[in-house]
Amino acid sequence: MEVNKFKERKEYPLKHLFDGSDLNVYESNYINLSAGTPNEILLGKCNQLFEAATKHLLKYEAANHSYIFQYGPTCGTYSFRTKLAEFLSKQYQWNVDAADLVLTAGASYGLLVILSTLMDLNGVVFLDEATYMIALESISDFNTLKIVPVKLNDDGVDLIDLEEKIVKHKFKHGGSKMFWGCYYTMPTYHNPTSIVFSEGTCQTIIRIARKHDLLIVCDDVYNILHYDDDISPKRLFAYDSMDDNDYKGHVISNGTFSKILAPGVRVGWMECPPRITKAFQNSGFLKSGGGISNYASGVITSMIETGKLEEHVQECWHSYKSQRDALVHALTEYLPQNCSFLKPRGGYFIWIKLPDHIDGEKMCEFILKNYKVFIIRGSRFSIENKLRNYVRISFAFHVPEILSKAGKLLCSGIEDYLAAHTTHE
Ligand SMILES: Cc1ncc(COP(=O)(O)O)c(C=O)c1O
Repeated sequence: MEVNKFKERKEYPLKHLFDGSDLNVYESNYINLSAGTPNEILLGKCNQLFEAATKHLLKYEAANHSYIFQYGPTCGTYSFRTKLAEFLSKQYQWNVDAADLVLTAGASYGLLVILSTLMDLNGVVFLDEATYMIALESISDFNTLKIVPVKLNDDGVDLIDLEEKIVKHKFKHGGSKMFWGCYYTMPTYHNPTSIVFSEGTCQTIIRIARKHDLLIVCDDVYNILHYDDDISPKRLFAYDSMDDNDYKGHVISNGTFSKILAPGVRVGWMECPPRITKAFQNSGFLKSGGGISNYASGVITSMIETGKLEEHVQECWHSYKSQRDALVHALTEYLPQNCSFLKPRGGYFIWIKLPDHIDGEKMCEFILKNYKVFIIRGSRFSIENKLRNYVRISFAFHVPEILSKAGKLLCSGIEDYLAAHTTHE
């Protein structure tokens, strides 16, 4: 009998995003240093946190018409946005206005709503030459958008390159969308480089954005995870001051609970200028869905109200700092001298520079095979498949003991690979 190919399906019993291969972060076959996600210990604490917050919420909802189970307001409930504004104001030590906040299902969905609602789909997305690799895939899904990489320096985007490229690609757009172009970036604890944009760079980005009416989309997903700075560096959104004569509102701060709480909960927020919040209030998708993640945002509101989220963030700082220190210590001790890295002040990642002639992709394969450590080649973070002599490692997932061991193994692997691929004259 002939097999009907349409009926053939393969289903794997996957339990999480990192499941389904030998590289599963929860297995010990390999040490996977790729995952930018909280580990079992931090997520384990969520069981109690969510149980208590859910009880707190449902007790209130029973006496409040059970509105939380209704379609939610387009941009999130008033109580979620006011409690979130209080939480963020304290974290940033900078006033966050509830009226500027829009509920999302996390930063990935924030980006989806931003591109689909605000951008001329024949427009241009400028992004850093090294940028979050999955954002490259997300933005490329909008295949009518032109993607233009921009040079990145140690203190942020190269402002001359950015403006030159803007001038080159700018066009007069006549459609109904608000922006002809946007610049997607991460000014604070950048992924993958971990850099923080300098004040001067931030000020000039605002000047450029206003001059060319360019939207700036900041994935501010790591801002709260600072390990050396007393408070989170001032986010780009705060540089776009409403008190300026030429203010129109050009920056969105796209935040998430994925890194400070749990990615599975799928809740985030966008902090937006008034004209952009208004555009989201009119978004068909947001209206039709009754906002995004309304119920989960209610549970988080309770967690903020009871002070438990703040306590958890402090635990995150403590864990991630010791994880970062373990990996940084191993690299400082054992990384070959002709390689370099910046000690991250926050976030999840370390970006290692290899000698120019080294192909990071081949080196990653070598290290995986011979040292059982999985790291990500730099070229994955480049829309042009460049940055071949870089690799990214993450200290988010593993405990310090594993990270110390992995760091040492990784350095031995790099040393071996370099020895075999460097000619001495
Ligand atoms: C820069 C950046 N943006 C977005 C995300 C995904 O965030 P979310 O889980 O909120 O969609 C990540 C996760 O690695 C990230 O590094």
